Amino acid sequence: MILNNIGIIGMGVMGSNIAFNFSNHNERISVYTRSSEKLKQIVQKDQNNFIISFNSLKDFVFSLKKPRHILLMIPSGSSIDLLIESLLKFLDIGDVIIDGGNSFFKDTRKRNNYLIKKGIYFIGAGISGGEKGALLGPSIMYGGDKKACAILEILFQKISAKYHGQSCSEYIGSDGSGHYVKMVHNGIEYSDMQLISEVYYLLKNLLQFDNQKISNLFKKWNQGELCSYLIEITGNILSKKNKNGNYIIDLIEDIANNKGTGMWTSQNALELCVPLSLITESVFARYLSTLKTQRILASTLFTGPEKKIKFTSKELSIFLNHLQKALYLSKILSYAQGFTQLKFASEKYNWNLQYFKIAKIFRAGCIIRADLLNKIVDAYVENNQIISFLFSPYFQNIVNQYHSSLRYIVSIGVKFGISIPVFSAAISYYDSYRSKISSANLIQAQRDYFGSHTYSRIDKEGSFHTEWI
Ligand code: 6PG
Repeated sequence: MILNNIGIIGMGVMGSNIAFNFSNHNERISVYTRSSEKLKQIVQKDQNNFIISFNSLKDFVFSLKKPRHILLMIPSGSSIDLLIESLLKFLDIGDVIIDGGNSFFKDTRKRNNYLIKKGIYFIGAGISGGEKGALLGPSIMYGGDKKACAILEILFQKISAKYHGQSCSEYIGSDGSGHYVKMVHNGIEYSDMQLISEVYYLLKNLLQFDNQKISNLFKKWNQGELCSYLIEITGNILSKKNKNGNYIIDLIEDIANNKGTGMWTSQNALELCVPLSLITESVFARYLSTLKTQRILASTLFTGPEKKIKFTSKELSIFLNHLQKALYLSKILSYAQGFTQLKFASEKYNWNLQYFKIAKIFRAGCIIRADLLNKIVDAYVENNQIISFLFSPYFQNIVNQYHSSLRYIVSIGVKFGISIPVFSAAISYYDSYRSKISSANLIQAQRDYFGSHTYSRIDKEGSFHTEWI
């Protein structure tokens, strides 16, 4: 019997597409799921006959070469722990379990610690790119014990996306670091999506642009510095009509769901004391969207300015130019906050993250792939320890040139009563970040006034308290 290098458990869309991806790269692969019907369909669809299916967990495990590599593509949470327990009965020392889902990095750390005591390696792999990416080449960020990753590296390189021939698969660091980087990727994904939605909302409500016109604008912007997967798909989404000739976007309810990865990113930023205002605002924007009943009621009771502006064609082109720049700068600030969070996490968890490597694997396959990442790669190649990539010459130049556009767009939003929370967070962060002197001296005085919390002074070393009353 020929033994396979890797097996996958979980034949949902992501799991099965990864199996087909391996098969398309001439890699024989074992797959396991409980449904015989599902297994039959997958084997039938596999034109290369490289997928070997099992509905016995034991037979599946024994079909793998040692050390066994078992990729779990099942929902995150307790189902992972249950499956690990079932697998342990059949595994040998040195075998490797890889969690390819969006698991919380602290769970990955725990599982890692638990399994290492049993001689089993546990690798947390963030796999980005949605169902198409899984089939044609995702971006893969994996972490755990490096010793366990030699075979995995070759396997992941085979199936990952390629950016000008370079594989978008990278070993990130120990324990939960792979899942951590995927979590921050998702946080950035949230703010990218929200910023684009705010542009759409402004154009639709303030300028009364129709869907086709907005779609054309995104398609045009996708030819320039904003070029990215999310801008590209937004251009396509906005022009898509159904059989009756109606735009699909107009039929979709304005309530955004989430699976929690954006929330984890923000929660962790709070724990690490790192400002993550753009991503966090985008999480809140999704939550606010779900308060539909309250929004409907409030819309009938609370007033605001008329959401309309009349531009000459010259003014319109100036406005659109500002909007494009405001979007690019806000996107930069959101990535900068995300990468700064990675830096804080690297220090806290001792991961020694290589930011240029992370930016490199985000350039293809994943949801936040964007031309901008090349500039981020350059900044970190130049200096991996840079405080923030904003300090590199390219970004210094952009922020200095573009902040007035962002300021203008936010002022328009405020003036005309159009909610653009992430744009607003962006300019606010920018202005706070560049403030040599902040208002925090007053906060310290207030804390000392009501709670004797003490303060430090600018003219003397030490800790001081004033009897304020
Ligand atoms: C990816 C995506 C993927 C998933 C999101 C959706 O990188 O391929 O991020 O992981 O689509 O997790 O997340 P929400 O349901 O929270 O929007």
